[in-house]
Amino acid sequence: MSASVTVIVPTFNERDNVAELVSRTAAALAGREAEILFVDDSSDDTMAEIARVSASAPVPIRGIHREHNTAGLGGAVVVGLAEAAHDVCVVMDGDLQHPPELLPTMIARYERGDADVVAASRYIGGGDSAGLGTAVRLGVSKAATAVTKAMFLRRLWRSTDPMTGFFLVDRSRLDLDTLRPEGFKILLEILVRGGERRELRIAEVPLEFAERRNGVSKASLRQGATFLAHLARLRFGKMGLFAMIGGIGAVANIGIMWLLTHLGMDYVLAAIIGAAVTIVGNFVLQELFVFRDERQDASRLWVRFAASVSFNSIEAALRIPVMALMVETWRLSAVLATAISLVVAFFARFLFHALVVYAPRRRRATDAEGEPPTDTAALRVMRAIDAEAMRPGEL
Ligand code: GDD
Ligand code: MN
Repeated sequence: MSASVTVIVPTFNERDNVAELVSRTAAALAGREAEILFVDDSSDDTMAEIARVSASAPVPIRGIHREHNTAGLGGAVVVGLAEAAHDVCVVMDGDLQHPPELLPTMIARYERGDADVVAASRYIGGGDSAGLGTAVRLGVSKAATAVTKAMFLRRLWRSTDPMTGFFLVDRSRLDLDTLRPEGFKILLEILVRGGERRELRIAEVPLEFAERRNGVSKASLRQGATFLAHLARLRFGKMGLFAMIGGIGAVANIGIMWLLTHLGMDYVLAAIIGAAVTIVGNFVLQELFVFRDERQDASRLWVRFAASVSFNSIEAALRIPVMALMVETWRLSAVLATAISLVVAFFARFLFHALVVYAPRRRRATDAEGEPPTDTAALRVMRAIDAEAMRPGEL
């Protein structure tokens, strides 16, 4: 059996790597029916370079350019999988951190016929993660892998590197429709969700993760946060993620109360301040992670903010007297009373947000005409936080 192969290369500003990537990939695939499919979201002239190189390339090359890059790297890979001319697809980074010379090994492993996915792993014998750079990033990467494996023991126990971006997948074994990729972790998504009808069989080959050739990595602190949210949602669903954020808020709330009461503040005032900080913080986190997809079709940001804050304020306003009552009559500690009331309030809050705050609305005419939305103070705050989260970090 000699499989025909589509090599899918997601690119975001990789102009200077295209020529070398094509020549090395073509050499690795010599004698086999194959194509290279670029899925490009670049803002530079990567696309023009792809066109230039493909004119003289020894393999067929196609490039799909997306003007409005929404789902990022993972979304680009899904587009590639849908558009590929062949069922056997290899996803490979466009910055030469994934050596094309490994392609024959991966394809040969697939051709043994007992695997649907062949992942190039940085963590098995012969593998190497030097290209990850700093010890911090390597540590974070290993810890993230361990947590992820623990969360999806059954589906991932055969995978040492579910986060690798270099893998072969037999598209005919996948349910493409079930994939909801977010950020960078597309293989994880495929392994956990892509084999809905039947479990995917995973094999691995060792990968020497090289240094990036040209350009810069697009991984960032924000990718790290997106990854955590993705993980929580894969495992626990939306409500689980909502609860997780609520949990973080509750801990913050209790922490603030503890601090303020220890500084001598009256516990009722401390509870009000704690609640206010928590309400705003929760809103921002839910916007960014829980209801990200719903945001587009829901009402405007300031309406959502107002609805969310009103609900939470009313809920808190009711909760605080109830809490005070518990403290005065049942002699519970203020902290315990807060904790109990927060848990009770959780379900009401989730239902209200899912069914009311983020309920789909018909797009307004002005939006459809492309008129820029009015810049509210809340939007500016969100943008500032967003910009902060975009700053490069380690993962
Ligand atoms: N089309 C498209 N759209 N391509 C993108 C986007 C995007 O929004 N963002 C990044 N890419 C492309 C890059 O151009 C590159 O070809 C590839 O995706 C990987 O991006 P890098 O920015 O080089 O990521 P990395 O090296 O930090 O991460 C790689 O290694 C990780 C493991 O540590 C990726 O392979 C990850 O998937 C992998 O988890
Ligand atoms: Mn890279």
